[in-house]
Amino acid sequence: MKIAIYPGSFDPITCGHLDIIKRSAAIFDKVIIAVLNNSSKHPLFTVEERMELLRRCVKDIPNCEVDSFDGLLMDYAKQKNAAVVIRGLRAVSDFEYEFQMALLNKKLNPEIETMFMITNLNCLYISSSVVKEICRYGGDTEGLIPEEIINDVKYKIEKEC
Ligand code: COA
Repeated sequence: MKIAIYPGSFDPITCGHLDIIKRSAAIFDKVIIAVLNNSSKHPLFTVEERMELLRRCVKDIPNCEVDSFDGLLMDYAKQKNAAVVIRGLRAVSDFEYEFQMALLNKKLNPEIETMFMITNLNCLYISSSVVKEICRYGGDTEGLIPEEIINDVKYKIEKEC
């Protein structure tokens, strides 16, 4: 069974993430969407909330599983028997960071490959931060975040203000 891990902060999941998840699920037997418990970022949603939002968005993709991790990605991937880590590339500016991370991960565990997927053209400009900013100022988030979670993001941002 070929298992892939799609790691990230997902604060919150965007249409760009969902596009990568759907395409990965069509290639691998199982895709584990792994939410990083990252103390250096100041997330809007807790890890549990982010996992719940993700589960709602992938409920119709049977070979997707949502989980969380902390520590090194390579340790987590080994523990899950994953062969591949998937990362989405939106623009050239993503490349340098991703390149460094992929090489470091390769050094930590040469048996696990990093696979890059070019983001869908419609999602090139999306990031979780810009989506939150648009929500904060009452802008239209249609096509940026999955419909299932739009109200949750709006509610959480209203509560935050
Ligand atoms: N569509 C839309 N947005 C996307 C996207 C896509 N396809 N791909 C990435 N993004 C955006 C995210 O929304 C996020 O936006 P934000 O900064 O506005 O919140 C940004 O790109 C960063 O993406 P993310 O994928 O969440 O990366 P990250 O840098 O937060 O985390 C990990 C990357 C989890 C893979 C990495 O930090 C990690 O492995 N950490 C574990 C520790 C470790 O092993 N370190 C050693 C590695 S060298």
